[in-house]
Amino acid sequence: MEFWDVAPETIEEAREEFLEADIVPLWRFVIEWQGRGVGSVEYSHPYADTDYLWTAGIDIFIGEPAARNRGVGTEAVRTLLQYLFEVKHLHRVTIDPEVGNARAIRSYEKAGFRFDGVLRHNDRFENGRYVDTHFMSIIEDEWPAAKNRWEAEVDSDD
Ligand SMILES: CC(C)(COP(=O)(O)OP(=O)(O)OC[C@H]1O[C@@H](n2cnc3c(N)ncnc32)[C@H](O)[C@@H]1OP(=O)(O)O)[C@@H](O)C(=O)NCCC(=O)NCCS
Repeated sequence: MEFWDVAPETIEEAREEFLEADIVPLWRFVIEWQGRGVGSVEYSHPYADTDYLWTAGIDIFIGEPAARNRGVGTEAVRTLLQYLFEVKHLHRVTIDPEVGNARAIRSYEKAGFRFDGVLRHNDRFENGRYVDTHFMSIIEDEWPAAKNRWEAEVDSDD
């Protein structure tokens, strides 16, 4: 939770905060690994009631420590990118990991995101901490090459 604000204390709180959040429109998907839910990945449009439906921001967390560092997060991000570019036909997808979240940044680079810049005090946690975040994006023209790298990795794993 270091990179995801204050941790919910009960499963009910987690459900309210993560699954029934009144943030509309936001689409949230459960990440399954070895037959169980281990986290979630989501996307939303920044200004949904305007002309900004060509872009979306995504976010992800894997709550089960055992499921981290095994490629699951990168696979989930790639799967969502494939959906957003190939089914929803978006032009740009963005993500904004905290500057100190080296694992997340590495994972997003592997998936195809590029570094755009640092947004100072771009987030404020419930405990009052302001955080600087990287702004990263991937444009639709860059997706085919990113997808090729994904497929090459899958082939080399076989
Ligand atoms: C960030 C997160 C989604 C990444 O998913 P993951 O499945 O753990 O990541 P992957 O295994 O796919 O890839 C992690 C990469 O970072 C590297 N890495 C791990 N720890 C690292 C560190 N401290 N510094 C730099 N790189 C690190 C891994 O070696 C791997 O790179 P490699 O494949 O080149 O070896 C997941 O760890 C997570 O949910 N963390 C907690 C919540 C969070 O930070 N959410 C992101 C909010 S923006």
